[in-house]
Amino acid sequence: MKFNNLLFETEAGVTTITINRPKKLNALNIETIEELHNAFKKADNDKSTKVIIVTGSGEKAFVAGADISEFADFSEEEGKQLALKGQTILFDFVENLSTPVIAAVNGFALGGGLELAMACHFRVASDNAKMGLPEVSLGVIPGYGGTQRLPQLIGKGRAMELIMTASMIDANQALNYGLVNHVTTQEELLPLSEKLAYKIANNSLVAISQAIKAVNANYKDGVNGFHAEIVGFGNCFGTDDFIEGTTAFLQKRKANFPGK
Ligand code: COA
Repeated sequence: MKFNNLLFETEAGVTTITINRPKKLNALNIETIEELHNAFKKADNDKSTKVIIVTGSGEKAFVAGADISEFADFSEEEGKQLALKGQTILFDFVENLSTPVIAAVNGFALGGGLELAMACHFRVASDNAKMGLPEVSLGVIPGYGGTQRLPQLIGKGRAMELIMTASMIDANQALNYGLVNHVTTQEELLPLSEKLAYKIANNSLVAISQAIKAVNANYKDGVNGFHAEIVGFGNCFGTDDFIEGTTAFLQKRKANFPGK
């Protein structure tokens, strides 16, 4: 599979997807959104990929938003379709992926960039990162899940303020808000993300995929998260990973999970 706007690399069980349009600050045009869908799907289907890291190329930006030049003359219907397609094939897709996804936010994460980071399972940022949803300064609202995921992550009042003021927060403020889990230097961003990925990869990926489903269930309309947890918990009992995990504990050895 060849990508025009992405780099795709798998090493030691970790696939790193790098959005690679640095001259446009990695802005998400439609082609890049489609390529990201294919890249995440490929990594999710790849048995050797245990964890996915997504980041941006260059030192300046993770993703500076949806590509404004592409939608500036869209009609209402085209706008709706843009948001619908993006949410379906990328943002919801990533959130519901059974392979864990870490966003390594290496600079500006604005608009669709922050929305992509928020769709990932958690976020790590470099100390130069700046995050925000500036859409209302363009006469539009966030369309890739930002009005839903930002309040989920930082609370309604803070989300309202960030969205209404269209302002950016720095990495430390994002840490303080709980929007990112760790802040480090640019040099340490990928090493720290990889360290977290390796820690995840030592655990049962089958159980992790059930945990992702159960946690996400809390944020889905009409789904009882506690019930989803009961179902996922039960499902784990029928897996080889459960036999290996519990047997290893009882035999006082480290579990050796077969992967996905
Ligand atoms: N869509 C399309 N192109 C974008 C873009 C976006 N979201 N963000 C940046 N770019 C392009 C710029 O047009 C510029 O292209 P050019 O060199 O061909 O003119 C290039 O990336 C570099 O950006 P520039 O604005 O010159 O960098 P800067 O350091 O002065 O400013 C930002 C950085 C992030 C503050 C600024 O680019 C910006 O505000 N971007 C838009 C952010 C936004 O509103 N995102 C939400 C979109 S819904």
